[in-house]
Amino acid sequence: MFTDEQIQEIENASLPDALKLVAEQYPDETVFSTSLGQEDQVLTEVIATHKLPVKIFTLDTGRLFYEHYELLERTNARYKTNIQVYFPEAADVEAYVAAKGINGFYESVENRKECCFIRKVKPLNRALEGAKVWITGLRSEQSENRKDMKMIEWDDDRKLYKFNPLIHWSYDEMTGYIQQKNIPYNPLHDKGFISIGCAPCTRAIEPGENPRAGRWWWEISHKECGLHVHQ
Ligand code: ADX
Ligand code: SF4
Repeated sequence: MFTDEQIQEIENASLPDALKLVAEQYPDETVFSTSLGQEDQVLTEVIATHKLPVKIFTLDTGRLFYEHYELLERTNARYKTNIQVYFPEAADVEAYVAAKGINGFYESVENRKECCFIRKVKPLNRALEGAKVWITGLRSEQSENRKDMKMIEWDDDRKLYKFNPLIHWSYDEMTGYIQQKNIPYNPLHDKGFISIGCAPCTRAIEPGENPRAGRWWWEISHKECGLHVHQ
């Protein structure tokens, strides 16, 4: 358990120190989910450079951009990591595709959420088994839903702490850190893709558009897949 004093200490610490304090409190029970987005690349760099006892994993939905796989290889090579890859259950995907079609997620919000559940949420739950702390790259600037999130919060559904060390980072701070440390990143970010998810559900945005406008762009929804909002 984190005391209020510990939480305050973590919130006031530098990024590496904050990660260290948390990982040392729960060594080998602290896990980090990376989508290989820019935020997550910052966290991977810190975790790997400081050799923190944190399992790093990614969820491969089977529908990601080619650039994602190429970046996964580059990241592992650069930081000598072996990011663990979780896949959806084959039987779930086969049943979904048989019933709804290969791109059935375009047809309704319900279909889309079911696809996200099968391809992301279920594998996430498996990856989080036994974990006491789940590190994410969430930033409050990203969306309305994320605006009030805290750096450390108790996730009562999953019965673990969610640790969002970059919650107060701005977009410019993040890209500045990436440049300064020469961290590998997805080349799609330079082509107008800010928030990147699955290929059929992500498109580039225009300057000035909301950073998440390119996700599930055909929907007028909260633009969340269920990883961070229970729906
Ligand atoms: S999502 O809910 O819309 O998909 P987003 O892409 O903003 O999430 O990423 C927010 C955080 O969720 C990331 O920093 C990461 O911790 C986690 N995450 C999202 N997608 C994945 C993925 N494919 N694999 C692992 N973690 C992910
Ligand atoms: Fe399926 Fe699209 Fe969700 Fe990926 S983002 S899991 S393809 S609905």
